[in-house]
This record gives sequence, structure tokens and C-alpha cells, in this order.
Amino acid sequence: MSYDLDTFVADCRASLAEDSGPAGRDHVRQNLERLLKDEGFTARHVKGAKPGITVLYEDPKLKFQVLAHVNEKARVSPPHDHGASWAIYGQATKYTEMTEWEREDDGGDPKYAKLKPVAKYKLTPGKAGIYEDGKIHSIDYPHYARFLRVTGTNLDKINRIRIDLKSGEVHQMTPQQAT
Ligand SMILES: [Fe+2]
Repeated sequence: MSYDLDTFVADCRASLAEDSGPAGRDHVRQNLERLLKDEGFTARHVKGAKPGITVLYEDPKLKFQVLAHVNEKARVSPPHDHGASWAIYGQATKYTEMTEWEREDDGGDPKYAKLKPVAKYKLTPGKAGIYEDGKIHSIDYPHYARFLRVTGTNLDKINRIRIDLKSGEVHQMTPQQAT
């Protein structure tokens, strides 16, 4: 049975209204995997869409967003967080190599962070991963790797950090800088 954007959004609303914590978010992740397997959806919104980042939906009440990242060029991001929000990444084409990081310092210095990698894996088409509030990750993808993201809120409106791995310097992120 086909699954479309409107049905996905309605399911997100129901899941997050019932439980805005990890259980509700995991329902969103599972439904995102279902959406990514729908060829009608991916043909229209991902594979055949124009390059760039498109907000497919923003919920006026719960504030979550659904974004299509139609990438043309390969990219490696620095480690970054999503501030006081969660983010779910779901792969549509090619792959994204994910690295999850933890701080080795106590987090007391706002300008410096020492990180250690704690997990590294590939998201392949049809697979989605969740990154909870404050978690640090980095992404690395090849040309034409395209994905969807569902975020708890508009990340361009909240404070987020990225970390320079070599120097350990912590920088505030500008909108859409490191996804
Ligand atoms: Fe991210």
C-alpha cells in the first residue's frame, strides 16, 4: 500500500501528540522508513526534486519540520548538535556515514570540547536514525546522497554548536550550516 507525505505528517502528529519523548519519536522514525520506501513519494520529493533543502512541512502546533535534502555534491560536516531539539535522518539515495560523538570533558567550557567517537555506521536507503536533544554527530556523504530530516523544531531558530575536531574550538552555528 502506498504511503504519502500527508499520511506521514498525520501519523507524526498523532505519535508526537501522544508522546513527545523517545517513544513517540521512534514511531516517527519507523514511519519515515516506510515513507522512504514509497517510490511515488521519493520520485516526487527526493529523486526528481530540485537540488537544495526544501521544507516539505512545518507543524503549526507541535513545531516539527519535515525537510528534503536534495544534495548534488559530496560533503563532510563537522561534529555538531541540534541544540534543544531532536533530529531524525532518513536516507533516500546513496548513503550517509554517521559518526556519533561524546564529550570527554565535563562540558564546563563553552569554547572548548574534547570529543571521542562512540559509534560509526552507514545509513543506507530506507534506513533512518535518531539523534536526541544535545547529541553530537557528524555526517559524510558522497555526490547525489539525498535524505529527509524530521526535526523537533525549526533548527534555524535555536542555538546550536559545531566543534572543530583539530582544535576543539566550539562555534555557534549559523542557519543550516551543518545540517
Ligand atoms: Fe545533524
